Amino acid sequence: MSGVYIHIPFCGKKCFYCDFYTTLSIKYKEEYINTLIKELKLRQNYIEKKELKTIYFGGGTPTLLKPSELQYIIDEVSNIFTIKKNAEITIEANPDDINEQYVKQLQHTVINRISIGLQSFFDEDLKLMNRRHTSNENIYAIQLLQSKGYINISGDLIYGLPKMNIDHWQKNLSEFFALNIPHLSAYHLTYEPNTVFSKFLKKGKIKEIPEDDSLIQFELLLSEAKKHNFIHYETSNFAKKGYFSQHNSAYWQQKKYLGLGVSAHSYNGNSRQSNISNIKEYMKRVGEGSNYFVKEELSITDKYNDYIITSLRTIWGVDLKFIKNNIGTQYYKFIETKSKELILKKLLIKENEILKISPKGKFIEDNILMDLFF
Ligand SMILES: C[S@@+](CC[C@H](N)C(=O)[O-])C[C@H]1O[C@@H](n2cnc3c(N)ncnc32)[C@H](O)[C@@H]1O
Ligand code: SF4
Repeated sequence: MSGVYIHIPFCGKKCFYCDFYTTLSIKYKEEYINTLIKELKLRQNYIEKKELKTIYFGGGTPTLLKPSELQYIIDEVSNIFTIKKNAEITIEANPDDINEQYVKQLQHTVINRISIGLQSFFDEDLKLMNRRHTSNENIYAIQLLQSKGYINISGDLIYGLPKMNIDHWQKNLSEFFALNIPHLSAYHLTYEPNTVFSKFLKKGKIKEIPEDDSLIQFELLLSEAKKHNFIHYETSNFAKKGYFSQHNSAYWQQKKYLGLGVSAHSYNGNSRQSNISNIKEYMKRVGEGSNYFVKEELSITDKYNDYIITSLRTIWGVDLKFIKNNIGTQYYKFIETKSKELILKKLLIKENEILKISPKGKFIEDNILMDLFF
């Protein structure tokens, strides 16, 4: 079963850490929605016409669209694909867009999962990151959604922020778990090129936290999640049983997806496609029906490396039988040999032909990945 990803590039403010393709002007909103529908029609055959299991509105800030606009897009998708009964339909939301009126309108849509960018429960952090909301607005948004019956909620947090110490991170985690939502995405801050944070770093206005502190914060994240019965099912993702993100899990399990919108990516087992990252060009070229994406046909080595990078980070691990049967014996032999030493060092665990990262290995996941690349 496949999924559809829809990129909504509009943001009210640019967060200082973020390098996702976004635009601060919403003047093209209507034209953009019409272009999305046009692209949907043009690209409907990129994935097979099987039932859709998930639809995901990511951003940018999808909550800058009215719920009726989001539902209109879903209706157009359902004119082309059959949407499975009980499909997971997610929107990423910014806390300060969530108010009584918005939620009332949201209840008229089939959206059933909300992923909220909380980031921190300290106003000073939110200010530092140039977020639009306060900590109180985080709490208000979650409680309002819960009071209206939304249970399947995820929250994003960022740790490893400049000056963040362990007490500070502990307080953030405690605030999060007190809200009683079943899914957490917690990301260590990365300094992406061309972001304001990268410039601040170069100018010495902010400082990276020491690597040891990063590890201690990650360790605390793992232990707090465990204490609250959250399963660590992907590097940055934790959930109570039954609340894993089905959409993202499908990415990590090599399922096919169609990505619509400016800068969106798609995957169909044989190729990856990325749409251009400029809204005006995207709308113009989709209007003309050509030249709005770059397509990369995947070599067998690409398929192997892609499989390693997505599966090793997850609770499901790397299935060696899958490599043997679907990628090739050459790659199977390669990973068998390469993994031996990592197993001896207790960084990987092998059980029933499945390779998984050990608790010790979680701290140096990227190095392990590099070792297993072909
Ligand atoms: C694409 S953003 C979209 C969510 C939504 N626009 C919002 O900001 O709430 C997804 C999440 O990635 C995380 N993120 C983005 N850039 C990051 C960075 N450089 N370092 C750490 N986390 C980052 C943030 O937690 C963010 O909520
Ligand atoms: S983090 Fe979210 S709200 Fe902030 S600029 Fe990026 S996409 Fe927009």
